[in-house]
Amino acid sequence: MIDGHPQGLFVVFEGPEGSGKTTQAQLLADALRQRGLDVDVTREPGGTDLGERVRRILLLDQDMQAVAPRVQALLVSAARAQHVAQRIRPHLERGGVVICDRFTASMRAYQGAGFRLRRRDMEQLAAFAVDGAAPDLTVLLDLDVTLGLRRSLSHRGTDWEKAGGVNWHHLAFHERVRESYLLQAREDPDRWLVADAASPPADIADQVMHRLRDALERRELRRATEPVQRPLPLGIA
Ligand code: TMP
Repeated sequence: MIDGHPQGLFVVFEGPEGSGKTTQAQLLADALRQRGLDVDVTREPGGTDLGERVRRILLLDQDMQAVAPRVQALLVSAARAQHVAQRIRPHLERGGVVICDRFTASMRAYQGAGFRLRRRDMEQLAAFAVDGAAPDLTVLLDLDVTLGLRRSLSHRGTDWEKAGGVNWHHLAFHERVRESYLLQAREDPDRWLVADAASPPADIADQVMHRLRDALERRELRRATEPVQRPLPLGIA
């Protein structure tokens, strides 16, 4: 959606690390490509050279907790503005499908609720960065916080027990993130789908396709000139 008008199709996956966002994004992309649609799969922070550099600054070059939350919000917004201008908006304007792993809801959840920045500031920053581009559907892969942290630690090869679990303020942070996501979904039920991330990936993928059925039937979406074949993902990311 751009400036409130249906144009292309924009689907976002949100949720904690280890909730299977990447797998779901890929399953949806595969299903839509099978229908011949022109699908672009991308992620935030990232999706452009600039965005990937911001991702490295935040997630690799240093511990994200060491970057002041306001700076985090500005950096993810800068990356987002570039992403929308360079990749998302042009693809939607051509009638394409954009599938994005995280978008503005992540900033509301992590910088807003998690790091306690003001909601109004988050809304203003988000509106400025997205320049009228808005998801037609945001899929929340909701997951119990302890389970999510355990899954994401095991992906990093860290044993949960050896790591001593996660201390309470870490848990409290992620509880606030989860609550924010659930609240955002409750406030805009027409544009959100809450799925239980613990259910089988194929079931979640079915729910997503079900929610998109109307839009897929009604909208004039661009077909890919050459269908792209991608291998199915091997694991849940
Ligand atoms: P991911 O690999 O699960 O997508 O992790 C990206 C991290 O970046 C995750 O910890 C959430 C964080 N993030 C924010 O804090 N704010 C944002 O706006 C975005 C897009 C991501």
